[in-house]
Amino acid sequence: MSRLVVVSNRVPAPKPGGASAGGLAVALSGAMEARGGVWFGWSGDTAPHDAPEPEEARLIVKDKVTYALVDLTERDLEDYYSGFSNRMLWPLFHYRMDLTGFTRVTLGGYYRVNKLFSKLLRKMVEPDDIVWVHDYHLVPLAADLRAAGLKNRMGFYLHIPFPPPDILTVLPNHADIVRGLAAYDVIGFQTPYDVENFETYLRREKLGRRLSGHRFVVHGRAVTVMALPVGIETEAFAKTAQASEKNALVRRAEESLVGRSLIIGVDRLDYSKGIAERIQAFESFLTLDTEWRNRCTYLQITPKSRSDVAEYAQMEREVAELAGRVNGAHADLDWTPIRYVNRAIGRNALAGLYRLARVGLVTPLRDGMNLVAKEFVASQKPKDPGVLLLSRFAGAAHELDGALITNPYDIDGTAGAIARALEMPLDERADRWTRMYERIRNHDVAWWCDSFLKALEQPANDGAEVR
Ligand code: UDP
Ligand code: G6P
Repeated sequence: MSRLVVVSNRVPAPKPGGASAGGLAVALSGAMEARGGVWFGWSGDTAPHDAPEPEEARLIVKDKVTYALVDLTERDLEDYYSGFSNRMLWPLFHYRMDLTGFTRVTLGGYYRVNKLFSKLLRKMVEPDDIVWVHDYHLVPLAADLRAAGLKNRMGFYLHIPFPPPDILTVLPNHADIVRGLAAYDVIGFQTPYDVENFETYLRREKLGRRLSGHRFVVHGRAVTVMALPVGIETEAFAKTAQASEKNALVRRAEESLVGRSLIIGVDRLDYSKGIAERIQAFESFLTLDTEWRNRCTYLQITPKSRSDVAEYAQMEREVAELAGRVNGAHADLDWTPIRYVNRAIGRNALAGLYRLARVGLVTPLRDGMNLVAKEFVASQKPKDPGVLLLSRFAGAAHELDGALITNPYDIDGTAGAIARALEMPLDERADRWTRMYERIRNHDVAWWCDSFLKALEQPANDGAEVR
């Protein structure tokens, strides 16, 4: 078996306080712990602006994994991370053209940091290694590595949606970004819909086409393109949830409910998650279904994220204000309808809280996958499961057909679905849950990782020039 070299911007390196909320880090941690290898990326630390460019990554070895970490300067983070990655690619790929900000300076920073990563990484990669690059921050990396002479098998996985061509072409350098993708041997997307968007883009822009099945030609290079939905460690998570019934935080939460039904939402504070629309839907539910007043509590766990980006800072204010207004309007002396928590909760406690909840609200306006949806399902009590309310715009909706599927833009429709979820009889809840649990048990994170690596390890004639 070849050594695996994983590359991602966010690396959950083993350091105090190093736990990070975010689907990519969570999904890859399980896969890396099982298989071992090198995990290369940003350390999470900022170097002074006048620090010399590093010549080597810093190594930390823990069990089977070698973490290779790079500090980035303030300027690099401003241009590459906050700028081009999170103020251009992220909003655009989540269909939010209105929130994008494109500048040549941030674009330059994006390519500069990818070149820096390539310079440091190529010193570590051995000829038999396979390289697996993750997410939108690092699309150009394989092209840089190939330009430096590396001939390794290289794969790319996009954790976020791939938008339709009319949206993608808003990006001034869209053709370059897709040329970057063509340097990989295997490209993985979350859903068939993302593959469809990619294929339509290639056709319209005359930059490539599907040859047959998973075989595509992109910018004249043969590439494998697959839809592989990312999963969770389903059985382990289910066990954690069961054990977490005894967790002190979970017990405190349970006691504080004094018998009320718990509705839970767990999201990074990100505009793609539809948190404001969800709070509005909850308010509409309280207004329409008055008998549920004082009989349910909505807990929204929302750690802050990317606060250096102006659009995030603004929505932090808006959501806090909205939650406060709804509580002010509907609270009673002994009841606060929304508990709005802005800190990250550890995964053990989270599992226990999911299990305690009668309803899980996962209503993003757009999401590549959404692992919270799968974690909520994994955590339920098989004999008395809660109900998942899931946006049709989450990648997870392609798999979790036992959820109540909602349109988050339809505030009153979502309010009605909350009532339906709270009132759903046990046999229907159990039937829906069983279908979803089976799916995520058979398609867990190990399945995802193995399927991708199997495609990447195949010595197919990818990469060949195709006319
Ligand atoms: N998460 C966490 N603590 C929190 C909030 C979230 O550990 O307080 C984890 C959550 O359990 C999930 C991940 O962060 O595994 C979020 O992944 P998801 O795919 O739902 O969304 P993303 O943040 O990647 O957009
Ligand atoms: C999403 C992205 C990841 C990212 C995570 C957390 O899951 O797909 O690439 O790591 O959000 O965001 P952050 O900017 O904190 O790394």
